[in-house]
Amino acid sequence: MSSEQTTDSSGPSGAGVGPWGLKLAGVGAALPPKVLTNDDLTAWMDTSDEWIRERTGIGERRLGGTTSGLATEAARAALEAAGTAPTDIEQVILATTSPDYMLPGTAPAVARELGIDCGAFDLQAACSGWVYGLVVANGLIAQGMKKILVIGAETLDRMTDYHDRGTGILFGNGAGAVVVERDESSQGQLLSWDLGSNGQHVHILYSEHDGKIQMDGREVFRQAVTVIQRSANAAMERAGLTVDDIDLIVPHQANIRIVEAAWKRLGFSMDKTEMVLEHTGNTSAASIPLALDNAINNGRIQPGSTVLFVGFGAGMTWASAIVRWS
Ligand code: ACO
Repeated sequence: MSSEQTTDSSGPSGAGVGPWGLKLAGVGAALPPKVLTNDDLTAWMDTSDEWIRERTGIGERRLGGTTSGLATEAARAALEAAGTAPTDIEQVILATTSPDYMLPGTAPAVARELGIDCGAFDLQAACSGWVYGLVVANGLIAQGMKKILVIGAETLDRMTDYHDRGTGILFGNGAGAVVVERDESSQGQLLSWDLGSNGQHVHILYSEHDGKIQMDGREVFRQAVTVIQRSANAAMERAGLTVDDIDLIVPHQANIRIVEAAWKRLGFSMDKTEMVLEHTGNTSAASIPLALDNAINNGRIQPGSTVLFVGFGAGMTWASAIVRWS
């Protein structure tokens, strides 16, 4: 049985355009100060900077901090960029795979740190989590909410064995946050989205409670390229767009070779792609908002830009969303 036949659960997915608009009003990021370079890893691992860069595109990753602390720092920066007071936020959605505690969720602690008294919940969809969160926020805005924080934050160093050559080279910590607002002008829009999963692949990438990440790297690679292609195509089709209509792609920062292989199939150009992987490693749910922050700081997104987000990860899960920038 092929994984594409009976076990996929894509949808309901669709075009998100409504009478309301959606604006990504402010973006912020946070990285802990401790840097672990590829050369550092060679002190205890049989590897090299050259091998890791060539196979993954990663040069260094960050360690330390807490998920709530990094999420709060990124959220503060996003609120400042949006010119939004914390007390105007009506919902906090925190996408994470590495919460501070098994119980409770980490989002309420972030809300408390920000001085916000509103709904707050964690969302676990691994590396696709932040895009899932954006689509959920769009639904809440359709129901009348005006300002929502959608955060991706991870402390993957607690789940990573830095002596394991397969996983220790990949993962790091960080956070990215976005203030998502109802756009009364309707200029900004979530044009389309695609959410999916295939639980048949749970055991190609997983961690037990209090365990370390276990991964079948080759199978993750193979599945990731397939689902990225399918999900990005689905989102573009639903929005009535082609590759040429997309101004910038912000993919999950897992591995440069996964992105390049998927882009070859999709006809995307790396010139239109935001990558921060070299300096962050794979930060799971944090990686897309971290890259988005970099894109904005570098002036790569303008009003009217069409931006495609593509996430994929453990589960397997995948998520694409296309936003027209307000
Ligand atoms: N340094 C040096 N050599 C290594 C290392 C290392 N860190 N790891 C493996 N090797 C060697 C192996 O021993 C093997 O040597 P041999 O040919 O002499 O036997 C050779 O390199 C190839 O080993 P593979 O395990 O087949 O390595 P591969 O080319 O598959 O690369 C990697 C491993 C980088 C992990 C790759 O499989 C990969 O990138 N997979 C995707 C992983 C990923 O991105 N996961 C997260 C995505 S989803 C999410 O973000 C949650």
